[in-house]
Amino acid sequence: MLAACNRSDSTLPPSVRYPEHIAAGGNQPPAGEIKNPLPTDSANASDGSKVFSAMNCDGCHGGGALGWVGPSLVDGRWRYGGTDGAVFQSIFYGRPRGMPAYGGIMSPGAIWKTVSYIRAQPVPVTVPTESFK
Ligand code: HEC
Repeated sequence: MLAACNRSDSTLPPSVRYPEHIAAGGNQPPAGEIKNPLPTDSANASDGSKVFSAMNCDGCHGGGALGWVGPSLVDGRWRYGGTDGAVFQSIFYGRPRGMPAYGGIMSPGAIWKTVSYIRAQPVPVTVPTESFK
């Protein structure tokens, strides 16, 4: 059991699956759908923008999350899924090709504000022709 899962905080993801997990009878346990508990408003997006800079997300993903050594987070293309829950998990648990796990140093609330910020950004007029996928 991951230590993070022992925290009693309802904003945490309900379950995590790894490819190595074996489901009895071949049936996956039901997983809850994770939704951003924060309302979609400009205050949360603006707080998230500050977190994005303070945690140096922009150091890899670029100013405005437009992409740099890390992929653009605003071009509407996602390697790991663009749902609230998928974006939360990318930040909380990290992703294997260079995305650090922030779950140990950011509160779920701060992560959700960052998700609000990312989602509030419009898709830029020009995006790289090569898909990140
Ligand atoms: C050290 C550089 C680095 C930092 C710092 C960093 N990222 Fe990333 N991030 C990456 C890379 C590289 C990937 C692509 C990982 C992969 O493909 O496995 C990524 C992937 C992601 C994804 C998944 C994108 C997709 O297409 O599914 C999200 C969401 C994300 N980062 C958000 C953040 C946020 C929010 C922060 C700050 C809390 C942050 N990142 C900080 C390098 C970074």
